[in-house]
Amino acid sequence: MNTKFLDKTYISNTYKRFDVVFTHGSGALLFDDQGKEYIDLSGGIAVNTFGINDEEWVAAVCAQAKKLQHVSNLYFTEPQTKLAEILCSRTGAKKVFFSNSGAEANECMIKAARKYSSVSGNTSNIITLKNSFHGRTITTLSATGQENYHKDFGPFLDGFFHAEANNFSDMETLVESAKPCGIMIELIQGEGGIYVLEKEYVKQLEALCKEKDILLMIDEVQTGNGRTGQLYAFQEYDINPDLVSTAKGLAGGLPMGATLMFEKAENVLGAGDHGSTFGGNPVAAAAAVSVLSRIDDRLLSDVKAKSRYIIDSLNNAEGVCEVSGLGLMLGILPSKAEAKDIVENCLKRGVLLLTAKDRIRLLPPLNIGMNHIKKAMAILKEELAK
Ligand SMILES: Cc1ncc(COP(=O)(O)O)c(C=O)c1O
Repeated sequence: MNTKFLDKTYISNTYKRFDVVFTHGSGALLFDDQGKEYIDLSGGIAVNTFGINDEEWVAAVCAQAKKLQHVSNLYFTEPQTKLAEILCSRTGAKKVFFSNSGAEANECMIKAARKYSSVSGNTSNIITLKNSFHGRTITTLSATGQENYHKDFGPFLDGFFHAEANNFSDMETLVESAKPCGIMIELIQGEGGIYVLEKEYVKQLEALCKEKDILLMIDEVQTGNGRTGQLYAFQEYDINPDLVSTAKGLAGGLPMGATLMFEKAENVLGAGDHGSTFGGNPVAAAAAVSVLSRIDDRLLSDVKAKSRYIIDSLNNAEGVCEVSGLGLMLGILPSKAEAKDIVENCLKRGVLLLTAKDRIRLLPPLNIGMNHIKKAMAILKEELAK
């Protein structure tokens, strides 16, 4: 029926939606209630790793739903253990905690880091970066370093400090005064405008954390699960983190968060310290097993090749000031029109894009075909040039 009317009447006003009702899709194509086709370069904000209605994904979800949809974390279940084993063997993590979202995966990192302070002798303070985004719960908002998300929701939790990204001396000074138990960073600040941390800076942070027994916590909610051309972006930076959070694309469209605990942090949380009713739900876990099993070397090199193609076709294009990002997590700073207007115009022409601050943001399904990339790029370039 009248979806837009019912939405406006009954759903909380928190989302400013585009004027379109989607009904179905296939791969990187979406269709609205008028039958219009769209090429999806947004991927449900980095969630639909293999697009819409992907045959293998649907089969994995349906097969598990027919067997066992939920039984609670009081019992062992196979999909959860399979997923944990895959995550550990492919990252070097020792243990995993499952939840349902990015914010929850970060909450778990924060709890683990705070508890670890009793081992390290540091305070329970945590340092994050000024332009960061870590979620919408009060704790993860406290961790988030962008002031605009804080307005109206204080008071926030004590013990969060924000350092300037890519400025090591600022971090050193803050570490000296705050004596934190953990430093939490996004390697590419997604909501912060596809702002990429420099490798040397991240290496310096890693060394500092090691020296002071501070846990290095990487928020890979958006950068994870093949998005940057590595399974996790920390692998591109060649660092050894202590905690990694991920969510979004992990289960390819079902709610799933994971906190990966490496050697120092593996036994910090004990029985009763943390929990989540739906965390590691068998259907979501089966979906994630299917997703991860397909993020192999071939797919990752395809992601890099598609990324190269997009960057090359946009670099020096009319109306483009800068292209940032890694893999299929890209930001375009337009020079002529505003990002939000270009996104709006592309939507009218059947191409779905996102914004991140003043940039156009691209987070397409990882298996998007070159035919769709080429068609979407042609439209985007025309709009950028206007
Ligand atoms: C880096 C990062 N961390 C955390 C979150 C919060 O994730 P969720 O909305 O699943 O709670 C997001 C969401 O955009 C994110 O990009």
